[in-house]
Parts: sequence; structure tokens; C-alpha cells
Amino acid sequence: MKYQVVILAAGQGKRMNAGKNKQFIELEQVPIIIHTLKVFQKHTMCSGIILVINDQEKEDFQKLLEKYDVTKIKAIVSGGSERQYSVHNGLHAVDKGELVLVHDGARPFISHKRIEDLVEKAYETGAATLAVPVKDTIKRVENGKVIETVERSTLWSVQTPQAFQLELILAAHHHANQENYLGTDDASLIERIGKPVSIILGDYTNIKLTTPDDLLLAKAILD
Ligand code: CTP
Ligand code: MG
Repeated sequence: MKYQVVILAAGQGKRMNAGKNKQFIELEQVPIIIHTLKVFQKHTMCSGIILVINDQEKEDFQKLLEKYDVTKIKAIVSGGSERQYSVHNGLHAVDKGELVLVHDGARPFISHKRIEDLVEKAYETGAATLAVPVKDTIKRVENGKVIETVERSTLWSVQTPQAFQLELILAAHHHANQENYLGTDDASLIERIGKPVSIILGDYTNIKLTTPDDLLLAKAILD
């Protein structure tokens, strides 16, 4: 079972407020994006990495790839103004007929075990995502007042990687573009073409580094 992975690093990291793309923030002296890339570099089932970046940061990324000996890069692709467009650009560099994973560069703590569970399921069903059960009670709120309390037992927080048969996710992106639909993940685009998405249990430590407090958590996870 082989797969290729699209790794997204073309955001701006605004909520991290670091004055630069958060991908370059260092954890234990190594940039976040390198932590993420190394997971796939070391995973034998991964046959190629497509890295999606901002054009003006291309040289910075290339220097890092060389310094940290990331050799599995198949293509470096320009990102778009929204995550969904960055994914779409990345998908075009994946080989036909492959299983493709879409993963946030800002999620460095993904384990090989979880990737393998996900890949196995996606080979079987065409589309799968990692997710964890929601721990908090979730309420729907409007204008500062509770509208309802949502039944927690059916709620899951989805993560990346998400895994797809390439032609299926390309069709889903094509459909979303035609409808001007902008989703916050790729699985939602599959849902919109009426196809099933399987859920695979992930880890609560597979966090996306989004705000400065996530860096404190990241340090704890690395320890
Ligand atoms: N991403 C991307 N292209 C975009 C937007 C986001 O490749 N146009 C990537 C980010 O680099 C990140 C992942 O998608 O690895 C998840 O997005 P998010 O956590 O929102 O990162 P940013 O968009 O960089 O952060 P922010 O929304 O705070 O600006
Ligand atoms: Mg963003």
C-alpha cells in the first residue's frame, strides 16, 4: 500500500501572530514544516511529497529541504488564496490512480500508526479522515444566547491527514469550484457529491498549531 501526500504550507499563519508564516517557527531548533515533512520522509509507504508553498517563500523552503535532507519531494507547487485552492493546485501534481493524503504542514505530531490506519481504510472506501470525539459540550449560539445543545455523542473533531482516491477528490474539487463552495476541509467536498467519508480514530496530540498557546502544547507533546 503506497500513497503520495500533499503537504500544505502556503498559509500566512495570521492567528499565530509570529510576524512570519508559522511553518518556519522552530520547535527544538527545527522548523515546524520540517517536523511534519520528516514524518513522511521516514514512512516507507509514502512514495512522494508534494509541497504547497507561497511563491515568495520558495527559496526559504528549498534551503530547508536541502539542510534537513528531505529527498522525497516530487514537486513544489504554488498555493492559492484559500486552503482549498492550495489543495487543488497540489492535487494536480499527484500521479494518476494514486491514493493521496492531504495534510496540514502545521500538524507535525501525526504518527505512522495513524497514517497506516487511515490509508488502509481509504483503499477500501475511497475517502477517509482522522478524527477524535469531541470532549466539550457544544452549544449553538446566536446573539449571545443559546439556541440548542448539540448531542455530543455524534460529534467528532476532524483532523488531517485525510486520504482519498485521487480521481474522487479531483471530482469533488471540480464540483465545489463550479458551485463556488469553499469548505474548511477536503472531506466536506466529498460529502457534497454524495459520497461516503469514513472516520478513523486519531490522537488528541495531532494538533494543528494555530494560535500561540498551541506552541506551549507542542513543547509538552515533544517532551
Ligand atoms: N494553507 C495553505 N494555503 C492557504 C491557507 C492555508 O496551504 N491559502 C495551509 C497552512 O499553511 C496550514 C494549513 O493549510 O498548514 C492549515 O491552515 P491554517 O491552520 O488556517 O494556517 P494559516 O492559514 O497559515 O493560518 P491563519 O488562518 O491563522 O492565517
Ligand atoms: Mg488559515
